Amino acid sequence: MSEVTEKYDGLTRIIHWSSALLLIGLFVSGWIMVDLDYYSPWYQTLPQWHQLIGLLVMFLWVLKLFRLKRSTQLAALSSHSRTEVLLARCVKVLFYVLVFIITLSGYFFSTGGDDVVILFESLKLPQLLTLSSQQIDTMAWLHEYLAYALMVLAGLHALAAIKHHTLDRDHTLKRML
Ligand code: HEM
Repeated sequence: MSEVTEKYDGLTRIIHWSSALLLIGLFVSGWIMVDLDYYSPWYQTLPQWHQLIGLLVMFLWVLKLFRLKRSTQLAALSSHSRTEVLLARCVKVLFYVLVFIITLSGYFFSTGGDDVVILFESLKLPQLLTLSSQQIDTMAWLHEYLAYALMVLAGLHALAAIKHHTLDRDHTLKRML
């Protein structure tokens, strides 16, 4: 297949676009829920949705990681410079690192204290680590600031894709559509 017609396979594209939507949704919901008033109808439910969807994203990215190892990857387009290829690789690795640290820190600071976390009265999240209040604060700090870093990275990644599509007029974005 030529470079111009090749595309990522269907599952890769589904995971890519659903991850984009879910990660933005998690960022926005996290941002909103920490300021919710106790009497808001969302006070109880939004954090539970946030935690449930956060866990779903974690599983989706574990699946993504396994697929990376097993499936054949599309090569970079020949028009891309070596710097662009290197930058794209670094961004990819950083995405994995950030998503795993954010989801794990979210899990550990939610479940590491004395409170038992049961989502929607049916899904109990096991306490895998017992943390001191200082460690919980560190996890919460990581969770918040790495979530900001993730959104900045996602923005740069989207700008790079738009630049390839509009200025370079190559197939970088089309391969993922
Ligand atoms: C990549 C996935 C995730 C992203 C982007 C994300 C993002 C965020 C953001 C932006 C906040 C607000 C932080 C603040 O302003 O203090 C937040 C809060 C929170 N997140 Fe996540 N989150 C993710 C996954 C998870 C997971 C997997 C869990 C737990 C299973 C979780 C549990 C929480 C909890 C409990 C809060 C509320 C913290 C508080 O009340 O201070 N998050 N999240």
